[in-house]
Amino acid sequence: MAGETDHKLRGNYEHMRPDYTVDQPWREYSQAEHELWRRLYQRQASLVPKYACQEFNDSLNALDCSAGIPDFAEVNPKLKAATSWEIVAVPGLLPDKTFFEHLANRRFPVTVWLRTPEEFDYIVEPDIFHDFFGHVPLLFNPVFADYLEAYGKGGLKAEGLNALDFLARLYWYTVEFGLIETRKGLRTYGAGIISSGGELPYCIDSADPNRIGFDLMRIMNTRYKIDTYQETYFVIRDFKELFDATAPDFTPYYAQLHGKAPHAPWEVLPGDRVLHRGQSPRRAA
Ligand code: PHE
Ligand code: CO
Repeated sequence: MAGETDHKLRGNYEHMRPDYTVDQPWREYSQAEHELWRRLYQRQASLVPKYACQEFNDSLNALDCSAGIPDFAEVNPKLKAATSWEIVAVPGLLPDKTFFEHLANRRFPVTVWLRTPEEFDYIVEPDIFHDFFGHVPLLFNPVFADYLEAYGKGGLKAEGLNALDFLARLYWYTVEFGLIETRKGLRTYGAGIISSGGELPYCIDSADPNRIGFDLMRIMNTRYKIDTYQETYFVIRDFKELFDATAPDFTPYYAQLHGKAPHAPWEVLPGDRVLHRGQSPRRAA
């Protein structure tokens, strides 16, 4: 989602439709861009078998987009058949309302442009590699797919309740940076992690960050940082936990949250189900 941006957006918003979609200019990607995609893909593909959840890995393998930047027109029939989702091409970040409307209608917006080679390790704005590699495989999972649709509907409702900050935190700590307990141990399903070379090993192996059991109200009341590895990860037991916890009407939740001061990203609270307490030295004080 758009969040707060203080710099000019990078995409070309000139030729879009009113819903911000464009045609994916697939034939216009250069050989160098396809090559950069392959390099990005290979690095992440070597890490996800160990660090991402099985649902992600199975879908990624079925998609097989290792050869170059994917053509959305080829992916959509498969995705529609699996979960009735589709991906739509967009110039870049979207206004919140537009983003929510797409999700509420089972359309996932994917940015059309690819980062530059200098941004191989780190990019601020989401590009096609983050959006596609990170997000699209999980859209094949029926429960996660339903969660994301519900999130979009919830977003449209939250706008009128002045509650977008709370919902943005939920998206951040689940869809972008969520961890999940599996029979093979802790894994991630978060797109922000899955598209990052450094954070994939870090989120599971590092002693630095907290790993705390999923708690909806706790998450919606916890600030996050966008420019460092996360200091706290929240861990779901399965996608059903996520779906069920978010099914109730949030209106009374928001009323409660409006009266509270948010927690800092590194805090561990008395009620937390602590799977791992972060050892980061900066938290020692
Ligand atoms: N149930 C929430 C509401 O009533 C909507 C929601 C669903 C929000 C899933 C986030 C995730 O507002
Ligand atoms: Co994302």
